[in-house]
Amino acid sequence: SAAEKDGFDYFMLKEIVEQPKAVADTLLGRVSVDGQLTLDEMRLTPAELRSVEKIVIIACGTSYHAGLIAKYAIEHWCRIPCEVEVASEFRYRDPILDQQTLVIAISQSGESMDTLMAVRYAREQRARVLAICNVNGSTIPRESDGVLYTHAGPEVGVAATKTFLTQLAACYLIGLYLAQVRGMKFGDEINAVIAQLATMPEQIERVLDSVEPVRALARSLADEKTVLFLGRHVGFPVAMEGALKLKELAYMHAEAFAAGELKHGSIALIEDGLPVVVVVPSPKGRSVLHDKIVSNIQEVRARGARTIVIAEEGDESVRPYSDSLIEIPAVPTLLQPIVATIPMQVFACELALAKGNDVDQPRNLAKSVTVE
Ligand code: G6P
Repeated sequence: SAAEKDGFDYFMLKEIVEQPKAVADTLLGRVSVDGQLTLDEMRLTPAELRSVEKIVIIACGTSYHAGLIAKYAIEHWCRIPCEVEVASEFRYRDPILDQQTLVIAISQSGESMDTLMAVRYAREQRARVLAICNVNGSTIPRESDGVLYTHAGPEVGVAATKTFLTQLAACYLIGLYLAQVRGMKFGDEINAVIAQLATMPEQIERVLDSVEPVRALARSLADEKTVLFLGRHVGFPVAMEGALKLKELAYMHAEAFAAGELKHGSIALIEDGLPVVVVVPSPKGRSVLHDKIVSNIQEVRARGARTIVIAEEGDESVRPYSDSLIEIPAVPTLLQPIVATIPMQVFACELALAKGNDVDQPRNLAKSVTVE
């Protein structure tokens, strides 16, 4: 009903706007001002977490993209090798698992059959399984050794939005907690990131306050056939999520590439007027990656692409090559997906609405897929 939608025409629009609160609720009680993380509720003891030698993340769809981003954070902060795999492939390739393997199963619903079967398989191989889940008491957390709930509240729109951002928050919490219990020393980096993580709800609010131009841009692209997405580092899975949203909601061909791979084939796709969305990493500290992606933007633009650039505010270096520039707040690189994803959600949602699609119930899709 209209009341349930809080005055919005679609649940998806409401759920996008709920993201500051959703992420705040996921962090609530788990991050303290002094930088201590409290995650005892996961039911995995610090001793168990210290014995972990390998992490395998399994998930489907949007949850898989959260897993890809988690890998960058976990390997950097914890120095534990981390693999990420779509759940439907995992158990069919005879993966190497043992008691020192921590399997992290990410599932909004806790009911995706592919992920559930992967969890069961992992436990049979004696790996420990930690679920990241939004639905209390659902099957995947019940069958796992531990669980961290995301507390995003119910998500009705089939395309995941607020649950994705809260999955990211949960992944960062787990990565930082693992680093803490394992006594990782990164100078002040871990503490600085914890402090920044606590400010994410405000940063999300700022992005939401500035997305109106993204809506106008999306409407202007409603007749396009294809949109490409480029990113590097954590911006690559963000690009994948942007492409998935466009496929799910606008039924458009969309594809994401690691920007560095462009020259190895995909650049042949670029033609006059083709919209290319580029996620630009923070200019600070990671200048090598930043400069390389600026070159990629120039390369595709020289071949006729219409560039839509998502970059940190104040990053003037990209402006001359951006047909449209979408600015996001400056945050640590590993946390950037939390803010960079939002314009992509708004873009796909608005473009789908311009095409007259039902964004809450896209054709052929289900909120949770309970068959293999
Ligand atoms: C379905 C939904 C996707 C979701 C995926 C995984 O395909 O349409 O939006 O990302 O399932 O769902 P889960 O509940 O396991 O995160």
